[in-house]
Amino acid sequence: MDDLLAFVSPPGCRLGRPLILKALTGSTNDDARALANAGAGHGTVVLADAQTAGRGRLGRAWSSPAGENLYLSVVWRSGLDAIEPPLLALGAGLAVSEALDGFTPTPTAVKWPNDVRHRGRKLAGLLAEAIYRGTQPSAVILGLGVNVRGAVMPEAIAEIATSLRIVRGDDPGRAAVLSSLLERLDATLGRLCADGFGAIRQRLIERCENIGARVSIGEVSGVAIDIDPTGALRVRDDQGVVHAVRAGEIR
Ligand code: BTN
Repeated sequence: MDDLLAFVSPPGCRLGRPLILKALTGSTNDDARALANAGAGHGTVVLADAQTAGRGRLGRAWSSPAGENLYLSVVWRSGLDAIEPPLLALGAGLAVSEALDGFTPTPTAVKWPNDVRHRGRKLAGLLAEAIYRGTQPSAVILGLGVNVRGAVMPEAIAEIATSLRIVRGDDPGRAAVLSSLLERLDATLGRLCADGFGAIRQRLIERCENIGARVSIGEVSGVAIDIDPTGALRVRDDQGVVHAVRAGEIR
């Protein structure tokens, strides 16, 4: 992990101060949660070269081999009195997509709620976990996995996942990608917390590959028409009924 040893968060960026780098850990989300519970401040980041128990959404495992990808978790505390954790997770997906566009030959897209994909294959995933004090969130752990350097994807996910190395033909370098991710998360989520979801909603809709397409999610099937002001995906079914879907995975 020599490429990450000298990493310093870009000037002016509030995320990655401090940044705790681990050669190997269970899950950076667990590490960041423990740090947050012990009082770690806004912007603390845990970054690992490899994870033995990386977790994805919906209880899935997240393959985390050494030396290849970015596995990081950000402790986010700012603005949580005004912005609900699911909106923060949506905003983070938007920020990651915008950051990765700097490293891909053609634009990436967001698959609602927050997968980042390139030409229909997953490049990055986000696992947001809130920590509550009573009914009020005191922190949100934004766990991010980005496929960076793998030249071939494992056979089991070769049809559905890709890496920056594969889409570009070369390795952009993990430090450069990390720098851009932290800057964009800071800027986009800062705007979200300051000005509300309305300030980024249109950018997210324009990037969401599902809008205008047929989707099935939970019990609902139909055409995704937009993302409403609460972050829900609005789907018009074949009877013309519009459903606001708040969670789940599009099939
Ligand atoms: C998903 O798409 O299902 C979300 C994947 C999130 C993976 C990252 S890797 C860093 C952080 N630590 C974890 O255990 N999970 C997240």
